[in-house]
Amino acid sequence: MAATTDIFKNDILKDKVLLCSGGGSGICRAMTEAVVRHGGKAVIISRSLERLEKAAKEMSEATGGVVIPIQADVRKPADVENAVAKTVEKFGKIDYLINGAAGNFLASFQNLSYNAFRTVIEIDLMGTWNLTKAASEYIKASKGSIINVSMTLHYTGTVYQQHAGAAKAGIDALTKHWAVELGPFGVRVNGIAPGPIENTVGMSKLSSTRGGYETIPLGRAGTVTEIAHSTVFLFSEAASYISGHMLVVDGAHWLTNHRPGYPEIVLNPKSSKL
Ligand code: HXC
Repeated sequence: MAATTDIFKNDILKDKVLLCSGGGSGICRAMTEAVVRHGGKAVIISRSLERLEKAAKEMSEATGGVVIPIQADVRKPADVENAVAKTVEKFGKIDYLINGAAGNFLASFQNLSYNAFRTVIEIDLMGTWNLTKAASEYIKASKGSIINVSMTLHYTGTVYQQHAGAAKAGIDALTKHWAVELGPFGVRVNGIAPGPIENTVGMSKLSSTRGGYETIPLGRAGTVTEIAHSTVFLFSEAASYISGHMLVVDGAHWLTNHRPGYPEIVLNPKSSKL
């Protein structure tokens, strides 16, 4: 699936420089490709240099744009500082930041070890804070924009997801705090909370928590292209007065609260199961 269609003008993000954690795969790779496809340049970071190099090459070939891979573990301040320094060395600035690096798995409270909980908090929440801390002065200098990748599972206390939910709730809070604190410098800070997105690690790891497509009002999983479209929108001037917002892109999934019997009660009210 292409990262974006031609919904937006090709040069809507012309010459903008993106730094994206987790950009080597899945949703964040599509978000990165969308920025590059619309005129931007990107640096992608994650722990796996091999995956990054392959993704960067493929995205460059697909878009004709520039994508640079840099190995970094977002849990390590020295790594993210090095990634930021190299991005500025290469491009002279940073306009956009995507905090997308995440780790997740299904685990009950009973089976969640101290280290397992800490690991996910460190990758998701601390990783988001670390990278933003390292890049914030550059984002301020360019009056740039930040997108934090969150989720919706913590809105309803979904089973086996307390580690990721706690981390993402923290990310939601940071999104608001940073919008308030960085706003006076011209920086917009938003988030995207994807629902089930097809062909992603998140979907394959977590789908058993979600009860299947029948609990999604739009009747299907989302695509990475749909997350990419939201990314281009939030970074673009079309969203110039939007900050501190978490954009849920989930086909209205979480609103159903995974309700048994949905959508029969909507489509066939006479045979209502209420
Ligand atoms: C219980 C588990 C576990 C599991 C790992 N652990 N997997 N516990 N159930 N399935 C425990 C380990 O036993 C260990 O604890 C601790 O977690 C750390 O594991 P490591 O493998 O040493 O850590 P690390 O190599 O850093 O790997 C981190 C990881 C891994 C999170 C465990 O899965 C990872 O790197 N994932 C990255 C890719 C990923 O998951 N992406 C999904 C993003 S989806 P002990 O006590 O034994 O030492 C997403 C959801 C979005 O974020 C929501 C969409 C709806």
